[in-house]
Amino acid sequence: MTVKTGTLHKSFWMVALWYTLVLFSLFTDALSVTMRESSLQVIRGDAVNLPCSFFTSSPINKLNVIWTVAPFSSPENPIQVIVYDHGQVMEDPSLIGRVGFTGIPWSADIVLNDTRESDAGVYRCMVNNPPETTDLGIGELALSVLTPPSLPVCQWDGDVAEGGIVTLSCSVEEGIPTPEILWDKLNPEEIPLPVNMDGDMSGSVQIVNSSSQTSGLYRCSASNPLGTEHCYVNLSIYTPNTSSGILQGVLLTLAMSLVLLALLLLITWLHRTGQDGRWRDRKKDEYNEIPYTPSLMKRSFV
Ligand SMILES: *[C@@H]1O[C@H](CO)[C@@H](O)[C@H](O)[C@H]1NC(C)=O
Ligand SMILES: *[C@@H]1O[C@H](CO)[C@@H](O)[C@H](O)[C@H]1NC(C)=O
Ligand SMILES: *[C@@H]1O[C@H](CO)[C@@H](O)[C@H](O)[C@H]1NC(C)=O
Repeated sequence: MTVKTGTLHKSFWMVALWYTLVLFSLFTDALSVTMRESSLQVIRGDAVNLPCSFFTSSPINKLNVIWTVAPFSSPENPIQVIVYDHGQVMEDPSLIGRVGFTGIPWSADIVLNDTRESDAGVYRCMVNNPPETTDLGIGELALSVLTPPSLPVCQWDGDVAEGGIVTLSCSVEEGIPTPEILWDKLNPEEIPLPVNMDGDMSGSVQIVNSSSQTSGLYRCSASNPLGTEHCYVNLSIYTPNTSSGILQGVLLTLAMSLVLLALLLLITWLHRTGQDGRWRDRKKDEYNEIPYTPSLMKRSFV
């Protein structure tokens, strides 16, 4: 072999290899689907593009694309979101006007407008291009629909008399991701309070041994990355009216003392008159002639 023929051989094999690779890919490469994202987040109300690219080496006149979703709220009931078949598009009746292909037939991307919480779920893009494939090309992505917290509801329960136990509770209906619940006392100065979570969406604060200083404005905050909402409780701790109680006690004691004093005077007087009478009787006995004197009468009344 000459060097020249060797070079020829080499280039021939190179070209042959290249053709073989191309033919191999044409006959064996099944249609392939690529999801450019595996998970997406959208804020409720916004539009979202769900990307799904495919590669096919056959004509696309029989292209068939099906998007389904298994909603997070009911994964066991997947629905067909939108279908492309032989050039025709069909949407799920519940999504008409909100969903559409954006690049068909070159891509299987769809747009979902005016997103709702119920749109959250696992989306599957299935592409079929007969007669090229026997297997479907399938791609999957998870869509989360984020929502700001709804207005929380604040409530209080318990005994608002001094020394009592009061529970402040706060619950929020909506919010994805799950809102964080915080309680603060706002006046006279802002102090954060320890919160007991009652499930994911409500939190309470227990105030034991309340006092007049416990009175004030309390605020619950429900927040997630999309926003914060507040509700308030204006707590006023009732102080049993001790000053008037003391006054009543004093008055009662005073009245009872007066009655006792009167009784004492009465007893003293009765006793005295009795003694005077006896003394007078005795005097009468001793000095029968001594008359009844006014001075004695006076003394007994003193
Ligand atoms: C989605 O909204 C965009 C912008 O408003 C609009 O151009 C598009 O037609 C809408 N798509 C569907 C399917 O409603
Ligand atoms: C309740 O508060 C009073 C006055 O602030 C205090 O003397 C008492 O020890 C407290 N009792 C408890 C159980 O904390
Ligand atoms: C809370 O209640 C007190 C007394 O009832 C009142 O003076 C105060 O203005 C209230 N504060 C708010 C923010 O409602």
